[in-house]
Amino acid sequence: MPAAGIDIARIGPGDGTIAPRSRMRSDAPEQSLDGAWRFRLSPSPWDAPDDWRTGSAAGEWDTIAVPAHWNLSGFGSPAYSNVQFPFPVDAPHPPDENPIGDYVRLFDLDAPLTHLRGRMLLRFDGVESAAEVHLNGVRLGSTRGSRLTHEFDITDVVAAAGNVLAVRVAQFSDGTYLENQDMWWLPGIFRSVTVLGRPTDGVDDTFLIADYDPATGQGTIDARIASTGSVSIEVPELGIRASADAAATLDAAPVGRIAVGAVEPWSAETPRLYTAVVSTPTETVTMRLGFRRVSTDDGVLRVNGRPIMLRGVNRHEHDPEHGRVYSPDLARRDLVLMKQHNINAVRTSHYPPHPDFLDLADELGVYLIDECDLETHEYEYVQWRGNPSADPAWREAFLDRIRRTVARDRNHASVIMWSLGNESGTGGNLTAMARWVREHDPSRLVHYEGDWSSRDVDVYSRMYASHDEVRRIGEEASEPLPIGISADEARRRTLPFIQCEFGHAMGNSPGGVREYWDLFEEFPRLAGGFIWEWVEHSITVRDDSGRRVHRYGGDFGESVHDHNFVIDGLVSADREVRPGLVDYAAIIAPVVIGVDETRETVTIGNRYDHVTTDHLRFTWRREVDGATIASGEFDVPSTPPRTRVELPLPARARGDVTARIADVITVGAALAASTTWADAGHVVATGQQLSAVPAVAATRSAPGADRFDRRGAPLRLGGLDVLSGPQVGIWRAPTDNDLAPGWDEPDLPPMAARWATARIDRMLTRVRSIDHGPHSLVVETRTGAPSFDTAIDARWSWSETPGGLLLTLELDPHGPWDVDWARLGIDLTLAGAPTGMQFAGRGPGPSYPDTDAGVTFGWHEVPASDLVTPHVRPQESGSRRGVRSAIVRTTAGAVRVQVAGGDALEHGVALTVSPWDRRTLAETTHASDLPEPLATHVSIDIAQSGVGTATCGPGVLPRYRVPARPASFALLFDTP
Ligand code: GAL
Repeated sequence: MPAAGIDIARIGPGDGTIAPRSRMRSDAPEQSLDGAWRFRLSPSPWDAPDDWRTGSAAGEWDTIAVPAHWNLSGFGSPAYSNVQFPFPVDAPHPPDENPIGDYVRLFDLDAPLTHLRGRMLLRFDGVESAAEVHLNGVRLGSTRGSRLTHEFDITDVVAAAGNVLAVRVAQFSDGTYLENQDMWWLPGIFRSVTVLGRPTDGVDDTFLIADYDPATGQGTIDARIASTGSVSIEVPELGIRASADAAATLDAAPVGRIAVGAVEPWSAETPRLYTAVVSTPTETVTMRLGFRRVSTDDGVLRVNGRPIMLRGVNRHEHDPEHGRVYSPDLARRDLVLMKQHNINAVRTSHYPPHPDFLDLADELGVYLIDECDLETHEYEYVQWRGNPSADPAWREAFLDRIRRTVARDRNHASVIMWSLGNESGTGGNLTAMARWVREHDPSRLVHYEGDWSSRDVDVYSRMYASHDEVRRIGEEASEPLPIGISADEARRRTLPFIQCEFGHAMGNSPGGVREYWDLFEEFPRLAGGFIWEWVEHSITVRDDSGRRVHRYGGDFGESVHDHNFVIDGLVSADREVRPGLVDYAAIIAPVVIGVDETRETVTIGNRYDHVTTDHLRFTWRREVDGATIASGEFDVPSTPPRTRVELPLPARARGDVTARIADVITVGAALAASTTWADAGHVVATGQQLSAVPAVAATRSAPGADRFDRRGAPLRLGGLDVLSGPQVGIWRAPTDNDLAPGWDEPDLPPMAARWATARIDRMLTRVRSIDHGPHSLVVETRTGAPSFDTAIDARWSWSETPGGLLLTLELDPHGPWDVDWARLGIDLTLAGAPTGMQFAGRGPGPSYPDTDAGVTFGWHEVPASDLVTPHVRPQESGSRRGVRSAIVRTTAGAVRVQVAGGDALEHGVALTVSPWDRRTLAETTHASDLPEPLATHVSIDIAQSGVGTATCGPGVLPRYRVPARPASFALLFDTP
């Protein structure tokens, strides 16, 4: 073994640590060793000097912060890969190119620790991927399991002063074979290092199961305590004070049951916590208990006896500058943003998060699937040959990981399921993990997606199953069992179903989520799902000119990488809300509001699982052409969970009023009082009823010929020069989904490739005729695809009216079109860079036909910065749908456009105002490379394709596609 003192190619857990314990808040003294450490990086074990254990030479080394990843601290660079492994699958060996980081920290013990009567522990909360630990020249042991806690007993080694802690960390090790999650490779001591004082006869470990019996409303605590002292448990708020039997180890400790009487249960909707104090004469541990019961029956997932719906997201820990280093602010911000967007569940993909994250989830009310740090996905590349999950030699390594996961987090009410890991195939080691979990913690469910037989688990879990399959899974629970079905299959059919990943939020995405949700609502067995994923993992760096720019796979010179597949979140790495989150929030809203067309009644559906509508305030308002003409509050009777009420709409919402553009009723449900995650007034759901009116153009006359060029195209529209167009357009800058083959059409190329083959990205226009008539200028064009006889014929008829310049456009496909279009509309370029827009339509954010749940009709103002979505890899974005009227502003002036007739009357048009043309967007790989905007690119579409979720999952559903079709619509242009 080349690197001195670190064996990084063996099979098994680390060594020398004490048994995993639960994380506790104690009054025992502790000392953080976070801060500046000495650091030396060697490119390979072969180059790593042998002098590291004593730290004798460390005075000459660099310094590094702990916690941090060294390759985000100026030592090397990050690398991103998904399923593919960055080195040969040759377990348990890492490659020779394997950076070795040597860390040294000198420390004296703080006074409280030197005075302590008891033992002393050294705790590492996260080291990637393997560490060898020496204190004062004495070997303490090693770690495996990067996102897991490891504690060493240092009592006999530590001194009051002059301690030398030396840690040798290998970026890759045998452990890497179990940690091939889809994320950046980020080595180093990236979570805190702490010295813990352990008082003699203190509270060494706890496992408190706080149960709630929904039938009686009574709570109980099943308490197991590891201590050699005399232990008492108090829950002051409940008047509980009990002594507890304890034993030296938790495994040996008896279960003491404490009846606590009537309690308020914990759920994600009612995150009620009670403070419990576990104490011995030498130590006091403070815990927060949430009384709740997780169960399944008849295929239904329940909390506190009531069916629940998991409105979930997958969350990685990611900070664009610091990687997986925990930031309390960012974690709180994540959970608050989630709660504000109606999310009630997180799968901690794909490892236990920082321990403090669980406190936040308890407090704010979020169900967790706490996932073990395990993924052997690289074996998919070799047809799962030699998968550690199925190799008994690896069993201890697997068991060690799940023990550490469960032990650390078991006292948190938010954890409702333990997940064995992600994408690790099948095998006996997973079964052994599941068995251990069941024996250790009967109060939660076991989750694992990778084994569809579901032999080891309590919920049937899948990722990216199609809508059709999800429907079948919903239906099969109530069907008679088919003849000849296996026992596993028969059992699986009795389990609740979740999609642990669906709706892949990469780029302009995810489409089709509403259709999944409709299924989840329809079938009791379907208990919801988790969008992949919460946050984009871009890493920010400074470019040559000092700008902060976002980077993805391949940007750091990696030879094996997966490009921007890591940029797939509902929020950016800086936590800007992407349109997909707004859509998801509306789809999963806990209240559904419908206003009927006659405006007689409003229906309020309560989709909460545990609470009535009492905490909400319902308001209505009527807006006509942008002015609120009436508004008020509703009295909604207390509506129990999963029921609905119908109420009359106040008469004032109905009276006759003449509108020029639109008359809209909006009913909103908002928080009546502030919560820990939002202020009073925060809107959780909205319903609308819209009556739209077309702009009517009465008299018409032919426009002056001098206002058109020789091809019959207008020189100016409103107050702006037209630099190019208008011309027919059916292409868009491919979204990430457009570039991926949909899982529902595996034999077909991605949409973007089909468009390129059909050449709709480079269509050419020919003017066929120009006719100066008495009432209009009529121009006929044919816009066709090079090499083909497919085209779109257009008849542009321009007239002068009192309302402005009227364009009536008729579009007709010509030739044998067999490709679905990206859109159908017109493109034009206007003078000046865009400075913003105002529109009456559905907004304020962008939407596409399959992502439009979260936009509401209104008179919206959009600043230049929000016209398009700043996707890290540029692509189509920014389309505003249902637009009736808009003012586009540029540095050169402004134009107003209004819908005046044709197919646009019913649904309006989709308007995109972008600083960049589509070709530039399509050809630029990073947002930071987009040029300074010089002109304004406007598209007015009568149809837009949905976006689907083809990067993982189905492409655009048939109903959201744009097959070749004729269209006609009229638009009125003038100067605002
Ligand atoms: C899943 C995997 C995730 C992520 C996702 C694609 O298969 O579990 O970790 O890779 O696909 O973004």
